[in-house]
Amino acid sequence: MATVAAVLLAGLTGCATEPTDLSKNSIIPRPVSVTPSGESFLLTARSDIFVMPGGPEELVNIGNFLAGKLNPSTGLGMEVISDGRKPGKGDILLTLAQDDPELGDEGYELTITGKLLTVSASQPAGIFRGIQTVRQLLPAEIEADTIREGTWVIPTGTIRDYPLYGHRGVMLDVARHFFGPEDVMRYLDQLALYKMNVLHMHLSDDQGWRIEIKSWPNLTVHGGKTEVGGGEGGFYTQEEYSEIVKYAAERYITIIPEIDMPGHTNAALSSYPELNIGGKAPELYTGIKVGFSTLDTRSETTYRFVDDVVREIAALTPGKYFHIGGDESHVTKPDDYVYFINRVQDIVESHGKSIIGWDEIAHATLKPNTVVQYWARAENAVMGLNQGAKVLMSPAKYAYLDMKYDTASVFGLNWAAYIEVDDAYNWDPAMLVPEITRENITGIEAPLWTETVSTFREAEWLIYPRLAGYAEIGWTPAEMRSWDEYRLRLAEHGKRMEVMDIGFYRSPLVDWEEVTE
Ligand code: ACM
Repeated sequence: MATVAAVLLAGLTGCATEPTDLSKNSIIPRPVSVTPSGESFLLTARSDIFVMPGGPEELVNIGNFLAGKLNPSTGLGMEVISDGRKPGKGDILLTLAQDDPELGDEGYELTITGKLLTVSASQPAGIFRGIQTVRQLLPAEIEADTIREGTWVIPTGTIRDYPLYGHRGVMLDVARHFFGPEDVMRYLDQLALYKMNVLHMHLSDDQGWRIEIKSWPNLTVHGGKTEVGGGEGGFYTQEEYSEIVKYAAERYITIIPEIDMPGHTNAALSSYPELNIGGKAPELYTGIKVGFSTLDTRSETTYRFVDDVVREIAALTPGKYFHIGGDESHVTKPDDYVYFINRVQDIVESHGKSIIGWDEIAHATLKPNTVVQYWARAENAVMGLNQGAKVLMSPAKYAYLDMKYDTASVFGLNWAAYIEVDDAYNWDPAMLVPEITRENITGIEAPLWTETVSTFREAEWLIYPRLAGYAEIGWTPAEMRSWDEYRLRLAEHGKRMEVMDIGFYRSPLVDWEEVTE
């Protein structure tokens, strides 16, 4: 039920011009099919969110999520109704439909008439993706957390939409610089808007160990206490990590935890001398060099350590995958490396998880269901494919969020490339390497390594707006994507990101729309 103030507000703003052409939307990622019908649907003081009665509780939660996004800015006081009452004019209806193989788990349909806006899907995840489209069909001010004047109008028609790839993710390096649970949750909120479904957390590296392991407490007590540049570092307690996992799940986002090994382990080595070849612990490290550390791959203590770490993290992680790192182990002898990766794969499987690793792991004997994350060497990825693995596409030259945009970029590195917003968008994961085809790609992931950024505000400048393009590459059929058309939609998202207070890079390649007030 709406408040008196909201009724007044709706009355005041009801006379503005109403968009009527659904084909002129700025949705990112671009939907698979949009059919306009030339009228308008208006949210009013009488609007509420109806959820099919007798459906899963998840639908009520999704209804509440949508109400939580729409009410603060509109002041319309929309309620979630699941008791079987019938929706009326101006209402939103969330409903599960018959299984529709084309829509899959995450696809959805929006049917928008002058009277009713219906989001239907086979699975709750699809309803959740669908309501992100509803958000994006409303004016950018919908994202504000205080009341804005606006005509909350949506053009009518139908949208039928589903993702190209099942894995559409980002990686956040919380090891080089630590980012607390609130930053991670802010990121998860942003990812949800762009229909991303994976957050890969790089939880350990030379500079820091960031997750509490109860059986090896010094990992965080000692190994978590600094970061690049010598700042104070930090770590997640297991309770905090579990909260992140839950917050992600409420947004239909899976957390993939990564413990990078046998290299990139200085923080662990510094915490426990017995993990080192020679048994002597090094100092903590706050620089940005790579490739100088290794676990002792021929010591049973190491495998007891790995087993404990994987067991504790796997128990807190409902997702299917555990990421074992495996990159840049330059001081591990090749035979030792292969021996180590083979043993660690057994450990990960024994705790019920499938394995992801950076492309170097293809040198080992891969288990069925393993995913090789291509970042550097196509020949490694192809070697993985030849062992029956699938490939996750994160080629550094195109997909690394920590690469500078151009020579003037204040943050970021440039060892792989400069990646302007058009470069980030203008590539097709299935066209980079002849052997790596659509069928054997699980999806796309954009990593942010955090050597050069120490606050999430700084990270946002590298992440946005490139993230929107990666989201579209992962979702939208390649033949429907073109930079010239995309940059117009992205321009509208400048306004949206501004309202959301995202500190994005205003690339000169885009004619950013500004908030007018
Ligand atoms: C990596 O960038 N070392 C995976």
